[in-house]
Amino acid sequence: MKVLIFYFSGTGNTEKIANLYAKAFEENGDEVVMGALPDIEHKLGGTNLNDFDMLGFGYPIHAFNAPANVLKLARMLPELTEPKNAFVFKSSGEPVRMSDVSSLKLIKILKKHNILVTNEYQYVMPYNIIFRHSDEMAYHMWEVAKKVVPLDCREIKKGVPKKAKRMFMGGVLAWFLRIEHWGARFNGKRYKVNSDCVRCGLCAKTCPANNIKITDDGKIKFGKNCLMCMRCSFTCPKNAIKIGLFNGWKVNGAYSFAMPPSNAPALPDKHANYCKKAYNRYFREAEEKINSEQKKAN
Ligand SMILES: Cc1cc2nc3c(=O)[nH]c(=O)nc-3n(C[C@H](O)[C@H](O)[C@H](O)COP(=O)(O)O)c2cc1C
Ligand code: SF4
Ligand code: SF4
Repeated sequence: MKVLIFYFSGTGNTEKIANLYAKAFEENGDEVVMGALPDIEHKLGGTNLNDFDMLGFGYPIHAFNAPANVLKLARMLPELTEPKNAFVFKSSGEPVRMSDVSSLKLIKILKKHNILVTNEYQYVMPYNIIFRHSDEMAYHMWEVAKKVVPLDCREIKKGVPKKAKRMFMGGVLAWFLRIEHWGARFNGKRYKVNSDCVRCGLCAKTCPANNIKITDDGKIKFGKNCLMCMRCSFTCPKNAIKIGLFNGWKVNGAYSFAMPPSNAPALPDKHANYCKKAYNRYFREAEEKINSEQKKAN
């Protein structure tokens, strides 16, 4: 089977999941082509979707929706003459049920292009906004994803459908929350750098929306095309970017995802009770899936 995986990742979490999918398919003998945004937009003209047996779409959940550039990509795809099956994977900071609405618009657009989403999966990964998850939690999330993605991949390959649960008024809710797409552009204009900035240019070079310019007199200017993906502020080596109205929710610095050393001092986790029930349910369901597949294999 030949698989094309389209994905967008602001700060690397969705990319890590996309790579797990690529590995899982390849270990099953499939050929995988990766199409990361924004680069894939420029290569679409030379990509024939009919050459692929399966399409994948990955994104980070932004305000219970897919980011604007992911929906734009879906609209840019050609309409296929024959229906083609697809799967969606998304990464999110929390596992609340409301996230089930996040793909509704994407699925609708893809359907118009004769691309039929049969399977959808959500993986909880550490927050890149609101607050920083503890190293233990980030490690735990990643370990679970590493075990579950190959099982989900097997489900996709077997043709066992897996749809997100339908929610009453879910479409209306998701439609309303897509105000975030406009909000990101509005807020992005309010990004600023402080005096810690060393003009290294990393933010301008890596912004997926090409939204950051360094002027001739060395000023950093943010335009009106921000996706609120957090890549610039998350990866700034000097933590110099203020993210407008949401500055109180800024998270700076990559997660290591490694197992914290056993002798590391136990730090108080201010957010230990945040959505505790939902995280517990997510980890319990993942464990059940892993155990049940292990039993079947024995
Ligand atoms: C603007 C914005 C909105 C977000 N909204 C949600 C949300 O509604 N629900 C959620 O669980 N996580 C939300 N998150 C967290 C991300 O989905 C999560 O950290 C994700 O793993 C980031 O993936 P990435 O590193 O591939 O960008 C949001 C993040 C950003 C930047
Ligand atoms: S990445 Fe940070 S330090 Fe480098 S130019 Fe951008 S704001 Fe300045
Ligand atoms: S300005 Fe920053 S947050 Fe906005 S799209 Fe560019 S990298 Fe992402």
